[in-house]
Amino acid sequence: MVIFTPSGKRGRFPVGTPVLTAARQLGVDLDSVCGGRGICSKCQVTPQFGEFPKHGVTVAAEALSEWNAVEARYDRIRGLKEGRRLGCQARIEGDVVIDVPPESQVHRQVVRKEADAREIVMDPATRLLLVEVQQPDMHEPRGDLERLAEALKVQWGVESVTAPLSVLARLQTALRKGEWQVTVALWKGDEGPAKVLDLWPGFHEGRIYGLAIDLGSTTIAAHLTDLRNGTVKASAGAMNPQIRFGEDLMSRVSYAMMNPGGDREMTKAVRAAIDGLAKSLAEQVGIGARDILEVVFVCNPVMHHLLLGIDPVELGQAPFALATSGAMGLEARDLSLSEINDAAQVYVLPCIAGHVGADAAAVALSERPDQSHDLVLTVDVGTNAEILLGNTSRVLACSSPTGPAFEGAQISSGQRAAPGAIERVEIDPATKEPRFKVIGCDLWSDDPAFVEAVKGTGVTGICGSGIIEVVAEMRLSGLLDAGGLIGSAEQTGTARAEAQGRTNSYLLWDGTAQGGPRISVTQGDIRAIQLAKSALYAGARLLMDEIGVDKVDRVTLAGAFGAHISPKHAMVLGMIPDVPLDHVRSAGNAAGTGARIALCSVAARREVEGLVSRITKVETAIEPRFQEHFVAANAIPHATDPFPNLLG
Ligand code: FES
Repeated sequence: MVIFTPSGKRGRFPVGTPVLTAARQLGVDLDSVCGGRGICSKCQVTPQFGEFPKHGVTVAAEALSEWNAVEARYDRIRGLKEGRRLGCQARIEGDVVIDVPPESQVHRQVVRKEADAREIVMDPATRLLLVEVQQPDMHEPRGDLERLAEALKVQWGVESVTAPLSVLARLQTALRKGEWQVTVALWKGDEGPAKVLDLWPGFHEGRIYGLAIDLGSTTIAAHLTDLRNGTVKASAGAMNPQIRFGEDLMSRVSYAMMNPGGDREMTKAVRAAIDGLAKSLAEQVGIGARDILEVVFVCNPVMHHLLLGIDPVELGQAPFALATSGAMGLEARDLSLSEINDAAQVYVLPCIAGHVGADAAAVALSERPDQSHDLVLTVDVGTNAEILLGNTSRVLACSSPTGPAFEGAQISSGQRAAPGAIERVEIDPATKEPRFKVIGCDLWSDDPAFVEAVKGTGVTGICGSGIIEVVAEMRLSGLLDAGGLIGSAEQTGTARAEAQGRTNSYLLWDGTAQGGPRISVTQGDIRAIQLAKSALYAGARLLMDEIGVDKVDRVTLAGAFGAHISPKHAMVLGMIPDVPLDHVRSAGNAAGTGARIALCSVAARREVEGLVSRITKVETAIEPRFQEHFVAANAIPHATDPFPNLLG
């Protein structure tokens, strides 16, 4: 009896069967690149000896064959860890329990670092395989590619295979240099022929990489990932260069409408930025960008069209028709990406609808609201908020035009999250005196050492999480009424409330003595935040109406910004519906995580495609109730909806 752990799979095999063969027959996840030639060491296992009452077997020391010459040679040259055997060389001689360590499993799980996050189960589309190809002779008229295809069929069960011209051009040299052994990077989808993306003479020990890209309207974030084990080797972000054509999505659509060829200019700009990111990430890790063999994109519909070179003009007007909402499988050369391997396979996640893009689909893949018994509201806050509401019964999605205020734009002292930006704020309800923290300094501003500690950067402005906290704290301390009006110095009893024409502002920090700015919250800032938060709340409320509930069980805040929002302040402001504060969690950059999951797993790509087809899209732009909810949500926290959890 042969028992594999941790899978528990078991079976009987004739004496002399290699462990790798037994594993394959039982469907045990045991890796191999060299196909059992004793070269790659990916098939390492740890046999267990002694009594195993749980499995009902006793394993004797001679249950596996002794080292053969290949295994002994491998150990001599490369060294095998104590207790390890090469599964392709060790043969079964009796009852045995064989443990497959995580690094020998193809479908190993990669646990994400964030708390209670889902695991990524590796199921890569591209794998390295060593193949031994028959030499040509005068009686064998087939070409080298046909003999490679035959070898892949016999040795790896690959039914049909194609190779791009760039690979074909190097095939003959590689085969002869490798003495008729080549390592191929083979991409295999669900259907159609497999593709040889790259090849190397003999056994190639190098790694292959993929890029998971979250293409946002403001920033592009890319994660260079090892395709063998899902490890992120480096991450980098860059500004989306399309900003020069328009700050937000609709202004970019307008640019495309009003300037012939404008869409092509934006397409060119974003592709160049992606090339630049790929190059710098490869340099950072010390690899050639040609070793990047797969790319996965998540993005909103306008970014999606502009990336693909499709005019986004239809997305600017009802009924917001997408050229395609389906997932896309392309090659790097289709997108003119010139830094990475030109045969690299590109996968673009499906869009949910004309306003709810592949980024929301990626959040759904990462968070799987459809698997939750609780009704979960998931909000990805950006210039547009992508909102998902659902549980095991159904999932709804919408997007809401929050504008850039939550990112610090349109705010008088607003700035991006960077050292010197105010990110945490408290206001004493009695004295109305503020204290705050800036990014890059651990001290609160009322600490005597604060000014000295921030000497390098100074206090430069307020970032998104800071503006939410300061507005919420102003409301809590009575500086602001429920309608969002800032009180005068007489009304509030503090000289920090300063008259500015017919309205008032609140002075948070006067840095003029240190040569810095005066940082105030103006009535205009409050209005901008009210508009943004009302749009967000109205979107959530619309989905709640659609399901027929007036409360949700949990709230998940996604996105780089969502990770920094204080749940209490978000609720005081009325950005999110009332829930117990400990039922609000941050999911970090869930869209980026969704992209990584899809990069590492073919099964996850099918999963998100199925999931998106089951999500119901709710269109905020044409729904009259959206306006009603928007107006009622203008009050802080809300004109009518109760917030009992804020009273506790
Ligand atoms: Fe490559 Fe065993 S399969 S060494």
